[in-house]
Amino acid sequence: MTITDISYRKRFFAKGNVYLPHIAIIEKIIEETPTIRTFHFNFKDEKLKKEFTFESGQFAELSIFGIGEATFCISSIPTRSDRLECAINRVGKVTNALHRLSIGAEIGFRGPYGNSFPLDFLQGKNLVFVGGGIGLAPLRSLIWNVFDNRDKYGKIDIIYGARSPADLCFKYDLDAWEKDKTVNMVTTVDKGDESWTGRQGFVPQVLEQVAPSASNAVAIVCGPPIMIRFTFPVLEKLGFNPEQMVTTLEKRMKCGIGKCGRCNIGNLYVCRDGPVFTYAQIKNFISSEY
Ligand code: FES
Repeated sequence: MTITDISYRKRFFAKGNVYLPHIAIIEKIIEETPTIRTFHFNFKDEKLKKEFTFESGQFAELSIFGIGEATFCISSIPTRSDRLECAINRVGKVTNALHRLSIGAEIGFRGPYGNSFPLDFLQGKNLVFVGGGIGLAPLRSLIWNVFDNRDKYGKIDIIYGARSPADLCFKYDLDAWEKDKTVNMVTTVDKGDESWTGRQGFVPQVLEQVAPSASNAVAIVCGPPIMIRFTFPVLEKLGFNPEQMVTTLEKRMKCGIGKCGRCNIGNLYVCRDGPVFTYAQIKNFISSEY
């Protein structure tokens, strides 16, 4: 069995009417960057609060009543299921409306949708996490999930970058991972400012400098499309084969469940067949369509 088979096997849909949003209440808002906020929220319905499950890598549709809905990855941690979290970049109508909300506001939530990271397959492997910008959102869900079962995994490298120090997301996670002696954490920015004393350079270049071994390893990559496109060739150069590279893709989505045809890449629908893919699945069309 390959990693591709496993990522498909873990896919599941929410029970009941998949179009029906559940009411959730915003409990906390964290300013990650000048344009990104992480919203912590939980269901209004106590039964749903207890029963809801998801897996790292899955996504949800969040709705603002009277405005619309949009797709976001779930960035919270399944092994710490006391709340849900989504990191939201203010770029359009729905995300601007979300940013105007305060603690206590009600939003709609439907999901979880899509497949998840292949945790079964990752066990016993050395893991190389490569993230850029808000792409750390799905990765941090998986990374904390792995940390909560640390003895099941081998060596861990985390290479994360953003355009500038102000654009680094989840700084509280970066601090915690930097202190962890079992992890090789490398943070970089494309361009530093006068206060930045850390590494500078694009994520793919830094990955090449760090040069993690491909032996018994899986690389999990998430970030802007351009970062993903330049990261795969570096991983290939380091000896990773396409089945050892996993990513999660973002496409403009509407239904989230494979009905509207809005999110295709090649012959795949990101919502129905992903959002988690191996490079083996997407390498023929990633450079032309993503
Ligand atoms: S969002 Fe409708 S098919 Fe993917």
